[in-house]
Amino acid sequence: MILVTGGTGLVGSHLLYHLSVNNDKIRAIYRTEASLKKVKKVFSYYTSDVKLFSKIKWFKADITDVPSMKPAFADIKYVFHCAALISFNPKDYREMRKVNIHGTAILVNLAIDAKVKKFCFVSSIASVGDAIQGNYLVDEECEWNKEQDNSGYSITKFGAEMEVWRASQEGVDVVIVNPGVILGSGFWNAGSGKLFTQVYNGFKYYTEGITGFVAVQDVVKPMIQLMQSSVKNERFILVSENKSFKDVFFSIADAFGKKRPYKKVKTWHTQIAWRISWFVSKINGVAPLLTKYSAKSAHNITKYSSQKVIHALDYQFEAVDTSIQRITRNYTKD
Ligand SMILES: NC(=O)c1ccc[n+]([C@@H]2O[C@H](COP(=O)([O-])OP(=O)(O)OC[C@H]3O[C@@H](n4cnc5c(N)ncnc54)[C@H](OP(=O)(O)O)[C@@H]3O)[C@@H](O)[C@H]2O)c1
Repeated sequence: MILVTGGTGLVGSHLLYHLSVNNDKIRAIYRTEASLKKVKKVFSYYTSDVKLFSKIKWFKADITDVPSMKPAFADIKYVFHCAALISFNPKDYREMRKVNIHGTAILVNLAIDAKVKKFCFVSSIASVGDAIQGNYLVDEECEWNKEQDNSGYSITKFGAEMEVWRASQEGVDVVIVNPGVILGSGFWNAGSGKLFTQVYNGFKYYTEGITGFVAVQDVVKPMIQLMQSSVKNERFILVSENKSFKDVFFSIADAFGKKRPYKKVKTWHTQIAWRISWFVSKINGVAPLLTKYSAKSAHNITKYSSQKVIHALDYQFEAVDTSIQRITRNYTKD
């Protein structure tokens, strides 16, 4: 039996579809009935066959709550751990520690007890270090540097990875994937889905920061292949292409047939904007639109190498523009 956490999120829901094609024994945890509708929507992008969705045995549990999680591990041999809290708001740091680090520690302990065969953890490029001098592309050998000004999200994803490596020391084979910014259909008001909504609605601004982008299908397919392979106790960066936010925003606008964003935002603009946003959030109590770390990442230039997974699985990533075409088609159908 396979256990999936975070099955009601972007990565988990697409993973569940791909798992359901070839597996009958899938258990996925959920917290609210409302979130299951989002998963059904994601399945509808792939198929009209409702039998695949009905293969999934839904189990109500919270990864930070041992009594609710323990029964979810009965008969489980493989775990895909996708659940996490993603935020760049410093206010969410404590909660992120609880969900991302403590929650992962609970899953690891239960996996060890249940003698799980293999555990796949979805980490992030946020928990991979910078390229060492002279090494242009960041790869899996680049060590995370705790002395740097890391975001709370990075710190908690790195902390979660440490818990997963502990599982590998206690008899559970593990694989960790470190995806870049994940582009996928559904979830139009959260994470990278918001990029599509904003550009569709005529977003004016762009930055020239560069990072790694990857389609959600190119995250979940390598995850499944790594779990089926003999590869163990390794981590893999999953990035299809290194691109600027400008290029990605322009591609999305072109695919929608909308006007391209036309106002270049300079570093000093965002440095002022995140401070104003922080000040306003202190007054009105709502989450800031921009934070120090989201502002920083909009201008940061970091390029990643996925050569390790390409060689290990003989894997071919889809071009980001092709992914964008498919996602914009799904967006306009919704
Ligand atoms: N999206 C990206 O661009 C990106 C990039 C790199 C890495 N990642 C990593 O990929 C993984 C999946 O991200 P995503 O984009 O799919 O995130 P998402 O859409 O925000 O989904 C998060 C999932 O985690 C679940 N969850 C959160 N707290 C939980 C708790 N206490 N107990 C049980 N479930 C809980 C959510 O459940 P509810 O539906 O109940 O809220 C949801 O299913 C994360 O580990 C993230 O760090 C994401």
